[in-house]
Amino acid sequence: MNERVFVVTGASRGIGAATAALALEQGFRVVRASRSGAEARAERTWNAQCDVSSWESISALVSRVESHWGRIDVMFANAGVSVDTSFVSDAGAPPPEWTDMVVTNVCGPAFTARAVMPALRRSGGHLVLTGSAAGRGVRPGNLYSATKWAITGLAESIRTECVGTGVRVTLLQPGLVDTGGIPASRVNDPKLDASDVARAVLYAVSQPSTVDVNEILIRPTGAAR
Ligand SMILES: NC(=O)c1ccc[n+]([C@@H]2O[C@H](COP(=O)([O-])OP(=O)(O)OC[C@H]3O[C@@H](n4cnc5c(N)ncnc54)[C@H](OP(=O)(O)O)[C@@H]3O)[C@@H](O)[C@H]2O)c1
Repeated sequence: MNERVFVVTGASRGIGAATAALALEQGFRVVRASRSGAEARAERTWNAQCDVSSWESISALVSRVESHWGRIDVMFANAGVSVDTSFVSDAGAPPPEWTDMVVTNVCGPAFTARAVMPALRRSGGHLVLTGSAAGRGVRPGNLYSATKWAITGLAESIRTECVGTGVRVTLLQPGLVDTGGIPASRVNDPKLDASDVARAVLYAVSQPSTVDVNEILIRPTGAAR
């Protein structure tokens, strides 16, 4: 099987869905993974059920893809969730509801990287991790931002461990993207479209194998943060 294989987690909507569509258009076979994705495999597309917060689930997905399609060339570790938080008031989600976000946003990409690395080493492949502009600036009372700071560190930690393996690692840091879940306080802020972010991902993975795009920070024009 010669067509390269591109796996996207969090592909049922938003940035993941837009990136999966563009990757398909650009000639990859594409696996679209999410918790709600009912299993369906066609010649060049595969909707797969996977929960990245579970090691068993993400490692089983990687095994299934390698055994049916023989290779993985790009893993886009994109699945993530966001809940509002406050450390000084009752605003936002109650603390017991914070755990799922931390596990999904931090353990999810870490498990994904660990599960896919043998396949990427075999293919000379590429890992792209979705962080956020919120993983560069400090936001008051914002645990989501802290999970994205973790991705900033995780991507660099993985990249430096991958030196000499042929695997490339890209940290993607989008600003506000219009994917439907924008908080009321930011509805009037400038926004990117999910397709803008998808083009950035495809830019990184389309470079020659000698070029490793380590970071992409992409904000809508006019955005302060
Ligand atoms: N939108 C923004 O402004 C923005 C800005 C910067 C960074 N980001 C980051 O970009 C990524 C995508 O965001 P988005 O706005 O496109 O989000 P979205 O529209 O809410 O989509 C999130 C995707 O992740 C999947 N998902 C959630 N938890 C999952 C899990 N445990 N396992 C597997 N899939 C899971 C969802 O599908 P199921 O519910 O079916 O599982 C869905 O496909 C996230 O990491 C987010 O933090 C977003």
